[in-house]
Amino acid sequence: MWYKDFVGFVKKLYPTNPVVLHSPVFTGREKEYLAECIDSTFVSYVGEFVKRFEKKVAEYTGARYAVATVNGTAALHLALKVVGVQPGDEVITQPLTFVATANAIAHCGAVPVFVDVERDNLGMSPQKLQEWLEEHATLHPATKQLINRQTGRRIAAVVPVHVFGHPCRIDAILEVAKRFHLPVVEDAAEALGSWYRGKHPGTFGVAGILSFNGNKIITTGGGGMVLTDDPSIAEQAYHLSTTAKKAHPWKYEHDAVGYNYRMPNVNAAIGVAQMEQLEAFVDNKRQTAAAYAEFFRQKDIPFITEPEGARSNYWLNAIVLENYTERDVFLEFTNAQGVMTRPVWTLLHHLPMYQSAPRGDLSTAEWLAERIVNIPSGVRS
Ligand SMILES: Cc1ncc(COP(=O)(O)O)c(C=O)c1O
Repeated sequence: MWYKDFVGFVKKLYPTNPVVLHSPVFTGREKEYLAECIDSTFVSYVGEFVKRFEKKVAEYTGARYAVATVNGTAALHLALKVVGVQPGDEVITQPLTFVATANAIAHCGAVPVFVDVERDNLGMSPQKLQEWLEEHATLHPATKQLINRQTGRRIAAVVPVHVFGHPCRIDAILEVAKRFHLPVVEDAAEALGSWYRGKHPGTFGVAGILSFNGNKIITTGGGGMVLTDDPSIAEQAYHLSTTAKKAHPWKYEHDAVGYNYRMPNVNAAIGVAQMEQLEAFVDNKRQTAAAYAEFFRQKDIPFITEPEGARSNYWLNAIVLENYTERDVFLEFTNAQGVMTRPVWTLLHHLPMYQSAPRGDLSTAEWLAERIVNIPSGVRS
């Protein structure tokens, strides 16, 4: 039976017991930079490491501006607020994603609308997005606002997700969004180090976000980033992330209800060291993915590979099993053998807080959710 071969194969790749799905690797200058940061006494959000980290991420991704935050959810919340999402609006996203995507929409007081994903790259389907918009949305002739005819609410933005680091068809999504005058904010939380048609995920839309949680390709412990080419979006995101304090040498004055969302310097110190290793991590993970691809080719099991035109960071490797029953037998077997595997997230429209959210046909997401299994994907030593 191939499950046993799989366990043996993974244990050769990762000689730890148990083999976990992903764990951070600190083999660079993390401790040196942390010591430097502590010695400087600038451990909160003022300090050189935050600026250095932002600069490094901006240079790497090609974004003109990068604004560091306490986590990816906060980055998405800020980005959505700054592009104009208001309480009572609707924001289109996909049901196959981590819950934080919809939570950030809810934190704005807005309602997520779920449209389906594509079978091969797991990202939002441009076709299904177009169909949903054609069926439900009307551009108000006077205000130029896009209104959901059924709910009467304004549709304010689209949030596609680059799932497991695989770039979605962002160019086609942008085209559809443009036709309906909708800003696109990309959830690229998992996609640092991936590329799509020569550009980095998170730099296609008006804004994008990254996460540096402990399970991501690089980590700052907890952290996130807003990416944008628009100076006004960057400036507003920064301002709101620092309690909307007006710049002044000694006065404490705030001009909006801001947030305490700025990444602390101590986290950024780790981030600078991690960025120095990013390319090596991507290479390492791509080699692992190539080994998995060959293993699963021989077993005739679909393994999710980078879409056409993309270089993926293969953040989290995934296979597609026959059906729900086989998926659970496989999960039982592998976890009992000390190889951590897990199903994809519960689709967001099945969670209690999003059960009544508007949605289109979600048949592909439903099909995938019953079959996807994530397998160990960390950087190998
Ligand atoms: C797709 C996606 N969006 C958003 C987030 C939120 O990031 P964070 O955990 O840093 O808040 C994550 C990861 O955790 C994610 O995987």
